[in-house]
Amino acid sequence: MKLDDTYYWDGPLPETQAPASVPEPWGETKVVGKPIMRIDAFDRVSGTAIYPSDVVLPDMLHAAILTCPHAHATVKKVDTTEAEKMPGVRGVLKDGVPGTNIPWFGGGGGFASRLFDTHARHEGEEIAAVAADTIYQAWDAIRAIKVEYEVLKQATTVDDALKPDAPVIRDGGNKPQAPPVYQRGDVAAAFKTADVVIEHTFNTPCELHSPMELHGCVAKWDGHHLTIWESTQGVYAVQSSVARALGLSLANVRAIGHYVGGGFGAKLDTGKYSVIAALLARKTRRPVRLFLTREQECQTMGNRPANTITLKIGARKDGTLVALQSSATGSGGAYSPGGTGGVDYVIRELYACPNVRCENQSAFINAGTQRAFRAPGHPQGAWALESMMDAVAARLKMDPLDLRKKNFITTSQSRDGNQPYTSNGLVQCYDEGAKVFGWKEARARAPQAGHIKRGVGVAAGMWQGGNGGPPSTAIVKLFSDGSANLNMGAADNGCGTKTWGAQIVSEELGVPVDRISIEHADTGTTQFATPSGGSKTVPTESPAIRAAAIDVKQQLFAMAADHLKLPVSDLELRGGEVVSKSDPTKKAALNQIPAFSRRALLVGIGYRGPNPTGKAINPFAAQFAEVEVNTKTGEIKVLRFLAAHDSGRIMNAKMFQNQVFGGVTMGIGFALTEDRVLDHKQLGKLLSGNLHDYKLPTAMDAPADKTIVVIDPHDTECNTTGAKGVGEPATIPTAPAVANAVFHATGIRMTDAPMSPARVLQAIAALKPAPKGQKGGE
Ligand code: MOS
Repeated sequence: MKLDDTYYWDGPLPETQAPASVPEPWGETKVVGKPIMRIDAFDRVSGTAIYPSDVVLPDMLHAAILTCPHAHATVKKVDTTEAEKMPGVRGVLKDGVPGTNIPWFGGGGGFASRLFDTHARHEGEEIAAVAADTIYQAWDAIRAIKVEYEVLKQATTVDDALKPDAPVIRDGGNKPQAPPVYQRGDVAAAFKTADVVIEHTFNTPCELHSPMELHGCVAKWDGHHLTIWESTQGVYAVQSSVARALGLSLANVRAIGHYVGGGFGAKLDTGKYSVIAALLARKTRRPVRLFLTREQECQTMGNRPANTITLKIGARKDGTLVALQSSATGSGGAYSPGGTGGVDYVIRELYACPNVRCENQSAFINAGTQRAFRAPGHPQGAWALESMMDAVAARLKMDPLDLRKKNFITTSQSRDGNQPYTSNGLVQCYDEGAKVFGWKEARARAPQAGHIKRGVGVAAGMWQGGNGGPPSTAIVKLFSDGSANLNMGAADNGCGTKTWGAQIVSEELGVPVDRISIEHADTGTTQFATPSGGSKTVPTESPAIRAAAIDVKQQLFAMAADHLKLPVSDLELRGGEVVSKSDPTKKAALNQIPAFSRRALLVGIGYRGPNPTGKAINPFAAQFAEVEVNTKTGEIKVLRFLAAHDSGRIMNAKMFQNQVFGGVTMGIGFALTEDRVLDHKQLGKLLSGNLHDYKLPTAMDAPADKTIVVIDPHDTECNTTGAKGVGEPATIPTAPAVANAVFHATGIRMTDAPMSPARVLQAIAALKPAPKGQKGGE
């Protein structure tokens, strides 16, 4: 996968018009930042919010997809004769049906597959589809389709896929071109100057996004116009992909995604299901609902690649880092070359280090394709780097926080040619976090007797995106009664996009949030927006929203100045009235301003201006964990957690906290339980394709004792709202913070995640001298 700051959008970013003027940074805000409840909170929790999977249309058919049960196979014959005769069946699609020969999985100058390809490269690949009156009839018909497969030998690990006799998964070979080696300085020479050199190999789990709402859509045609209600992070991405696949103009494809039941990156891309639903709807002349099953979701809708990372670190006695060298492997599945995308970013950037070398290699395997997953690569890289920083601190007998502070840096060393960050609040994250957590006291506690061991650990992180940038256009309408509407293209993934959008309008126009309505995420009625991802929805959209509100305000002030016979510079908006700053007795309610009442509606347009040149913009975090390890059972319990984050100015304290808690919980899943298991040795099939065997952390696994520390460095350079992203940074340092706490508690350095009880017990067993006549670990 392509992994730069703009991975959430396929192709060059469109441009938006430059803003007419740049407003002054906000000082103290009245509404922005306040912990108000989400404007759709009641609708979400009461079940009245209509998610795409809730959409029901008159005459709607239900569709299901037949997928390949083998890890690797050639499809010889698909016989749908029986299925077509089944009760309620209205339409069947398979390879060869006119209109289905659609290329899929683009990139690298060509397409690797088709909508229904006869070379099935992993379990779950699409073979045929049925639309019927009921979902039960659709599945009965799916079961009546007879497929003749030639089962091929599979390779489901990087090692197996790169063997000389490996099955041919991709025409060009199983080894994608390796990304260029990143290098600065001279690591070999630098390691010779180090007082401490440590090297370890780390393994990370393959994680499944597991959104609560499955991938899917409802498709409906009105003549030549197609409307798709889809659970997506980006309606404009769905519009362009579906239009391309079906050869339609953009104007004839409308994508709507008002609610999204979880995304985490898996819903940045468009799935085959949208095109299949549209084709079935066209064929049957009926609306079609097509949502995947949980098993299909787990097989085909993306994952965070598992990585093996060997990291070598060299430091001087005083803790100064002199060299870092990493070598990572991982697979993006059958279609993505990006098995290691983003893995080395923290290694290159987080600490001052003049000599760094990072190499990465991936392979195509017979497994589902990776999709961007909350900070692609970063939790994996942080797992290695932050464990190693802890190991160096232990070797040097330094406080791990002091080691990190020693190597703090205010410039971006690799991406932007040593450019300064517009802000870097990492030291405040360390200091403030440590103070609130009680770090010094907890580190100094004497070890307990007994088999339950307690410890505390810290880890840091940064995210390569989170800067935001153009394009973004927002429209704010002010109605004659002083209420307002905000119109923007961005999806609200559940992070509160609509709510903070309304808070910004409220801040600028003095309109209470409950008098602001939102129109969003609909290509038919809203402005262009890139998908909500990359932790950039706030920093991308918020300046445009602010600019649109200011545009409305300026128009209103011009009308009021005329009416009140005052200069515009003397006016301000207060409680739905335009008031003179110098003489507050001179004022006019909005509907008393004649020009405005005559107009009934003012429309303001705002654009997102460019980011400053020569500067890097990144969010930073330090997280602290306290754990309990049961050395008899191998169980790890996270007792309490503190997350200190510099994401610039925050839009809503309550939603910020929720976002960070969500990221931390996801990181605890990485640390302790989540693991996609493939049957590598036998059939190559997915063994954890459900939410019973794929273990997401629940309320029982997340600590009740959670604290957020907000570090706002008052960044006035990054953009006109001072905001940086938080969605992804929240999950980057979590797992190594837990692992470092396990080390503090037990002296065991866990290198493989998830740290399952079995792995912990193996590590404990390996520490003990073996009984006479046995080898260690037996
Ligand atoms: Mo995110 S991985 O950009 O949804």
